[in-house]
Amino acid sequence: MELKVGDILTGEIIDFTHEGNGILKVDNFAIFVPNGVIGDKVEIKLTQLKKNFGLGAILKYIELSPDRIENQIESTSGEIPLVNYKYNKQLEWKKHKVTMDLLKFAGLSDVNVCDTIGMILPYRYRNHTQIPVGSKNGDAILGFYQKGSHDVVDMEGSILQPEVADKILNVIRKWINKYNIKPYDRRTNKGVLRHVGIRTNFKDEAMVILVTASESLPNKKDLVGMLTTEIENVVSIYQNINNLKSAPTYGRKYIKLFGEDRLIDCLGNFEFYISPNSFFQVNRTQAEVLYNKALEYLDLQIDDEVFDIYCGIGTISLFVANKAKRVYGIESVKAAIDDAKENAILNNISNAEFIVGKAEEVFPELMNKGISGNKVVVDPPRKGCEKEVLEAIVKLNPERVVYVSCNPTTMARDVKYLLENGYEVKEVQPVDMFPHTFHVECVVLIEKE
Ligand SMILES: C[S@@+](CC[C@H](N)C(=O)[O-])C[C@H]1O[C@@H](n2cnc3c(N)ncnc32)[C@H](O)[C@@H]1O
Repeated sequence: MELKVGDILTGEIIDFTHEGNGILKVDNFAIFVPNGVIGDKVEIKLTQLKKNFGLGAILKYIELSPDRIENQIESTSGEIPLVNYKYNKQLEWKKHKVTMDLLKFAGLSDVNVCDTIGMILPYRYRNHTQIPVGSKNGDAILGFYQKGSHDVVDMEGSILQPEVADKILNVIRKWINKYNIKPYDRRTNKGVLRHVGIRTNFKDEAMVILVTASESLPNKKDLVGMLTTEIENVVSIYQNINNLKSAPTYGRKYIKLFGEDRLIDCLGNFEFYISPNSFFQVNRTQAEVLYNKALEYLDLQIDDEVFDIYCGIGTISLFVANKAKRVYGIESVKAAIDDAKENAILNNISNAEFIVGKAEEVFPELMNKGISGNKVVVDPPRKGCEKEVLEAIVKLNPERVVYVSCNPTTMARDVKYLLENGYEVKEVQPVDMFPHTFHVECVVLIEKE
C-alpha cells in the first residue's frame, strides 16, 4: 500500500516507542502515534512520512484498550506517556523492552530477565524535579513541556512529585505575578527565569534552585522571604546561572541565597549529603531496591576489592564498603566526589576511596598503578560506558561485573562487548524507578565464563 501524508488509516496499537508513543503497523510499516496505548484500536491521520517510519495523530478511538486504567488522567505533557496504561502492564512492557534490547543489541535470546520490580504506590516518587519556565502572552508560567515541543503548559502540580513541591511552585508563581518576573526566551536571549529545580529528601525538606540566564534576579530577597515563611520545609535556596542558549537545565555557577549548603537524604542505613549539582537517584524507594539487588549480585566477601565506576556521591560504594575489604569510587563531577568523601566520614566508612576524573581515564590509570580489584560495579549515564572503560574491565579480569543501567539499549551494547570477551550474563533484574514514563532501569549480573 502506497502511503502519503494526510492518509486516514485504522489499526491497533501494538507496542510503544522508547519515548512512550504508541506504535501502529500498516503493511509492516511502523507509524508512531502519541496518546495511544497498547491495545487501543484507533483511526489516525498520517502527519509525517520518513524513510523507515511515519507519524500519526489520533482522530478517534474506535475501541479503547482493555489495559487502560478506569479513570483516565488528562496528560498533555510528554512526561507521563504511560499514565493511562495499567501499572502491571507498564511493568510487563518494561521487562519486554529489556528482553528485546538484549536480543537486538547483544544477540541474547535465552537470558533470564526477571519480572520488573514495581512500586506499591507509584506516585509522588520524584525527589528531584526540574520545571521549565515558559511564556503566555509575555508572562512567565511554570509547567511542563507540551508533548514534542518546547512550549510550556501551565500546571498546578504533578502526581510524580511530592506535595511540598506543588506548594513551592505555587509560592514561586505568586512571586512571579507580584513582581512581573519575566521568563527567559531562548530565541531572543532576553528575560530572567529559565527553570525551577526542586530537590526533596526523606523528611520532605526541600532545596529550591532558581535557574536564571544571568546573575540578575530581581526581588530575590522577597522570594526567599515568601518561600521560607510560607513553607517551613524549605531548608535551602540556590540561584543557578545558565547562560548557554541550548543546554542542560543547570549551568555551572551556583549562588546560595538561603539556608543549608546541601540536603541530607537517607538510603538504607546510610545518610548522604547531596550538593545541588550532584546526581542522586530520583526515586528513593526504588533506589534501595536497585542497590540491594546490585549487592546481591556482587555476592560480596570480606576480601573483595571492588571498583564502583560512575559512583556519583558514593551511594553504591558505601553499601559495598560495609561488606568488602576495599572500594574505589570513580566519578567525573568534583562536587559529587567531595560529597562522597564526606558521606564516607558521615557513615563511619574508612575503606572507601574516591577519585575524581573521567572513568575512561582514571580507571585505566589506577590499573596501571597496580591497583587491582576482583569485582566491578558500573552505573553509567544514559550513553553507557566508554569503550576504554569496557576495555579496562576486560583487562582487569574481575570475576563479576554488575551493570546498573538506566538505558537498556546502551546496556545491551556494552554487554555485547563483555560477552565477546569472556563473560556471560547470568540474570537481569528490571526495577521500575520511573513509573508512568518510558524509562527503564535494570541491574545485570555478568560473570566470567
Ligand atoms: C547514573 S549516575 C550514577 C551515580 C551513582 N552510582 C548513584 O547511583 O547515585 C551516573 C554518574 O556518572 C557520572 N559520569 C558521567 N560521565 C562520567 C565519566 N565519563 N566518568 C566518570 N563519571 C561520569 C555522572 O556525573 C553521574 O554521577
